[in-house]
Amino acid sequence: MFANLKAQPADKILALVKAYREDPRAEKIDLGVGVYKNAEGVTPVMRAVKKAEQQLWELESTKSYVGLAGDPAFSDVMIDMVLGGAVARGNVAAAATPGGTGACRQAFELIKMANPGACVFVSNPTWPNHTSILNYLEMEVVPYRYFDADTRGVDFDGMMADLKTAKAGDIVLLHGCCHNPTGANLNAMQWQIVVDILLETGAIPMIDIAYQGFGDGLEQDAAGTRLVASSVPECLIAASCSKNFGIYRERTGILMAVSADASLQALNQDTLAFLNRQNFSFPPDHGARLVTMVLSDPDLRADWAAELEEVRLGMLGLREQLAGELQRLGGSDRFGFLAQHRGMFSRLGTTPEMVEKLRAEHGIYMVGDSRMNIAGLNAQSVPILAKAIVDAGI
Ligand code: LMR
Repeated sequence: MFANLKAQPADKILALVKAYREDPRAEKIDLGVGVYKNAEGVTPVMRAVKKAEQQLWELESTKSYVGLAGDPAFSDVMIDMVLGGAVARGNVAAAATPGGTGACRQAFELIKMANPGACVFVSNPTWPNHTSILNYLEMEVVPYRYFDADTRGVDFDGMMADLKTAKAGDIVLLHGCCHNPTGANLNAMQWQIVVDILLETGAIPMIDIAYQGFGDGLEQDAAGTRLVASSVPECLIAASCSKNFGIYRERTGILMAVSADASLQALNQDTLAFLNRQNFSFPPDHGARLVTMVLSDPDLRADWAAELEEVRLGMLGLREQLAGELQRLGGSDRFGFLAQHRGMFSRLGTTPEMVEKLRAEHGIYMVGDSRMNIAGLNAQSVPILAKAIVDAGI
């Protein structure tokens, strides 16, 4: 049996983690995988999460199973954080999942179950694991134009033209905020136009929101998702707590199914629980419990929100420093887009050959499509990166 297995293509982002670890150069810079790092290069446990963990250690009296959809209290706080009252609670079914990736996977399975012929429209580019999982599930993927290689902003005309070709029942996968891998995002007016097209075509939105709080702020980053959820009859939302709570390895995420008709909520809820049972049975609880504790305790919540804001402002500062340094060294505003982009990533917009040159000559690691993790920088490495970019003639 095993001899029949074929080697699978390596995940490019994870391959980069390995290559970086094996690079002996002391001055190397890791702008690869999407993990937040502070100025010391550490991915810290957030203060409120640590406190919640201490409390949990004292309070937790059993490790018995919770429920197939996780603790309903987790669903409540997450629905509140993501949707903020935009949709009646009774219209939302939700289930905890192993991370945001687990939520995406469950969403795709639900789509396949409900409408096996659905095409899934994905931004070009999108997070590579979206397409990888869709291909694995043998679902039809239709890329829509998204990134304008000249302006490094959103090619909104192209996006609209492509989304108009979706049919009723097709799925449009949108990034709620902090687009991965480009960093280019829709503005409020563009979100409204996307909603209008969804209503016109009858296509169903699925929103992946993995970086809420990393872009313009916790509430602002959810605005597009809230607009969509409150405007269309049905949508799916996959949310991750990996980044905004810094609990990557705890695998904490949630899938929400929002229906206009509350009578579908029970069916959706049962379906989400069934899908969990088929794939992994009970979802992980530890991270979800910490998130519930942090979001339900006013003091922990305030401290968490303050630390998240520090993280967000730190990344914004690095963006501005990098754009400024490139302007100073290169004498042009060509890289001004870096300060306009939001979230953890920016696509520099250069060739894989140039990305390889930066790695080989300077020990600078970014994904082959020139996606940089801005949080991998600090005040000292920004000028080094800027000089390498200018010297390479990018
Ligand atoms: C990323 O895009 O780097 C993160 O979402 C981590 C991952 O699993 O790819």
